Amino acid sequence: MKLLKLLANLGYGSRKEADKLIRSGAVTDAEGKVLGVKDFPGVENVRVLGVELDPLSPLVIVMNKPEGYTCSTADPGETVYDLLPPRFSKRNPGLNSVGRLDKETSGMLLMTDDGKFLHKVIHPKSNCLKVYHVQLDRPLQGNEGELFGSGEFLLENDPKPLLAAGFEALSEKEALVTLHEGRYHQVRRMFAATGNHVLQLKRISTGGLKLPPELDEGEWRIVSEDEKDELFGK
Ligand code: URA
Repeated sequence: MKLLKLLANLGYGSRKEADKLIRSGAVTDAEGKVLGVKDFPGVENVRVLGVELDPLSPLVIVMNKPEGYTCSTADPGETVYDLLPPRFSKRNPGLNSVGRLDKETSGMLLMTDDGKFLHKVIHPKSNCLKVYHVQLDRPLQGNEGELFGSGEFLLENDPKPLLAAGFEALSEKEALVTLHEGRYHQVRRMFAATGNHVLQLKRISTGGLKLPPELDEGEWRIVSEDEKDELFGK
């Protein structure tokens, strides 16, 4: 791939802007030698203002999403894209979230520019279960495990029963819920159907991969190849 196209695809600017960037002398090799539009010493040897290039596609990242951010740029307000370097919004192919979390849900959000990976994670056959930590307004009734695990539980305005979900009570008002599917506001609606109310909801794992503990809210990092295997339980 030509230097110009590579820089444009990574969001360093339009082709015209990338051309300008190169001509300004800001793009060098690892030794600091200024590169021209026709030079290409290999991706790992390119520096922009002395800094290594952003990761190439295919890219998978994991974010610890804070409450208050939406996953879609179509929604008003702050989005998870605002937590990434501004250049990432101009990448081609662009990054998409792997499934969505509600604005008020926090925790593990995977994002990728790799359509195949995205579909594999959300495809039921991959069985990438999602685990949520739930903080409730009222004490648990005691029959939630039975109800959610029945395979017959119905949500309001949805005629199709939910797939059996896992449930583990952690304290009087705290539980873990494991989902095999992702319906609109699913966990909140499940508890609403029992007369309870979810105060806080956090996704803590997807498939075999846990939310990395070193990520503070709003932080993200690249998912390694080994972690992708862990995700799919390999
Ligand atoms: N269930 C919900 O209610 N919201 C989410 O964001 C995810 C699961």
